[in-house]
Amino acid sequence: MKFGNNNRNAFSIKTLLDILIGLTSVGIVLITLGGLGGVSAAALQSNPNKKNVIFMVTDGMGPASLALTRGFKQFRDKLEIDDVLTLDKHFIGTSRTRSNNSLVTDSAAGATAFACALKSYNGAIGVTPDKQPCGTILEALKLQGYLTGLVVTTRITDATPACFSSHVDYRSQEDLIAQHQLGEYPLGRLVDLILGGGRCHFLPNSYPDGCRSDSRNLIEEAQSNDWSYVGNREEFDLLKSGENVTLPLLGLLATTDIPYAIDRDSKEYPSLAEQVKVALTSLSKATKDSDEGFFLLIEGSRIDHAGHDNDPAAQVREVLAYDDAFKEVIKFIDESDVETVAISTSDHETGGLATARQIAPDYPDYLWYPEVLLNSTHSGGYLTQKILKFKQSELGLKSDKFKQFLIKKLLRPI
Ligand SMILES: *[C@@H]1O[C@H](CO)[C@@H](O)[C@H](O)[C@H]1NC(C)=O
Ligand SMILES: *[C@@H]1O[C@H](CO)[C@@H](O)[C@H](O)[C@H]1NC(C)=O
Ligand SMILES: *[C@@H]1O[C@H](CO)[C@@H](O)[C@H](O)[C@H]1NC(C)=O
Ligand SMILES: [Zn+2]
Repeated sequence: MKFGNNNRNAFSIKTLLDILIGLTSVGIVLITLGGLGGVSAAALQSNPNKKNVIFMVTDGMGPASLALTRGFKQFRDKLEIDDVLTLDKHFIGTSRTRSNNSLVTDSAAGATAFACALKSYNGAIGVTPDKQPCGTILEALKLQGYLTGLVVTTRITDATPACFSSHVDYRSQEDLIAQHQLGEYPLGRLVDLILGGGRCHFLPNSYPDGCRSDSRNLIEEAQSNDWSYVGNREEFDLLKSGENVTLPLLGLLATTDIPYAIDRDSKEYPSLAEQVKVALTSLSKATKDSDEGFFLLIEGSRIDHAGHDNDPAAQVREVLAYDDAFKEVIKFIDESDVETVAISTSDHETGGLATARQIAPDYPDYLWYPEVLLNSTHSGGYLTQKILKFKQSELGLKSDKFKQFLIKKLLRPI
């Protein structure tokens, strides 16, 4: 990969808004313009142009997931039939997406479009179709004095956060993505706050939760380079008041992805909403006295995985977890004295979710049964792992055919 002319300084907030509103992306777009709400003139900061920008991605969520989740919540909480999600209340329209080389974008080309405002090929991480790095909105705003953050539930080195903070030819180059995210690339460190999963690509293979192909320990390197590090729930909880946060902050809260909301042990892992709250508190506190605000990417990363897994019980909980995080953002905007723009959109749908299957040739039954999803207590992936941990002899199997079937059919493709 080479670093060519990438126009990275060419963005401004105005062009950002033009870009984001004119995006050629899929799914649902929600825009909330807020700030200044209920704040006296005296509280207004010295720079009247100060802004915060929050870009939110429901990765892999199409309209059907939203409808399914809305119905599920109405059933679960015994709500009125016109009860809606927080996301529904801010809905403004839809958008079209495709990538440079496919009618259906993947998350990498999708997020490259969000970050760089251009179409690239599926798998591309912050690079053009001819593999030149493209300036991202995170980089542009950081270079203008904003603070920047990434909050996700997947590996921080996964496609969406990677596209804002690194430039590699293929999304599988996660070892290199981790290096870029910590500032080991020509622009130097541009990310101030990282909260997500994915310790794996920051630690060498020889460590129990490491998977780097070299022997570098990026967490130790980062710590000796000013980063503060949190690696578990207890350390994360100390950040909650905002008093204990020093930026740059590297928070890697799981070896790979943070478990699905349906499987998540809340004693071990925070929710997306909790992560968002810590990020908003930290970034607004750190920019309190500065002329520029912050840029924050928030991703409901694993809606996508539940779609790929064809696991609606997991997916409705992922969407609800995102809706809670979205609510935190709205609350922040309502209470903030800095004008804050929040945009929530999707890249593509995964899994082809449908809620009413037509079986009979005549008049179709438009039925779906939320209680089936409500009765599920874990994801299919969780169950698969449990079964795989049993010894074959305990399962009474004569061959490993069943195990192979599970691996092939049930384990999520990377
Ligand atoms: C893909 O990108 C190349 C190089 O920029 C361009 O020539 C081509 O038209 C693009 N294809 C699509 C479908 O956008
Ligand atoms: C900050 O962290 C220290 C431990 O490092 C802890 O004792 C203290 O309670 C924390 N403060 C807040 C406000 O969370
Ligand atoms: C859900 O669980 C309840 C309680 O165990 C049971 O009575 C009901 O039949 C289950 N519903 C479905 C659709 O499986
Ligand atoms: Zn995606």
